[in-house]
Amino acid sequence: MKTRFELNGQAVEADVPARTTLADCIRHDLRQTGTHVGCEHGVCGACTVIVDGAAVRSCLMLAVQANGARVTTVEGLSSDEDLSPLQAAFRKHHALQCGFCTPGQIVSASALLARTPRPTRDEIREALAGNLCRCGTYPKIERAIARVAELG
Ligand code: FES
Ligand code: FES
Repeated sequence: MKTRFELNGQAVEADVPARTTLADCIRHDLRQTGTHVGCEHGVCGACTVIVDGAAVRSCLMLAVQANGARVTTVEGLSSDEDLSPLQAAFRKHHALQCGFCTPGQIVSASALLARTPRPTRDEIREALAGNLCRCGTYPKIERAIARVAELG
């Protein structure tokens, strides 16, 4: 089946089996591999992307369901040359170890800051509650997001 949507500002099209997830379509058909796939059943949050302004788990959404939507992955959050303020804050505050969960964390945090520019610590924790980090960098992730929110 054909699916056409906007990916990081570019119109894209893919011809995929109906059961193909959005995550697999983005990674394998459209070659944007910043979106990671961990559990493949909606638990870890590694595959989080933004669809029409909302953070969604792309392993739980079919590629054909994205037809006509605006999809943003971690690649779409910064220019080629510069880190976004959020990415820079993650680096500055050492908010990652292995980095596997990081794209999902940053995408979820971006969606939060877009709808709530000054989140409380509780709101940050709630928004990121679905993003698991096996390296346990949660306090540093929270600090990085809070710092960006404070700087506005
Ligand atoms: S890979 Fe989608 S939630 Fe884990
Ligand atoms: S930094 Fe390793 S899983 Fe989060």
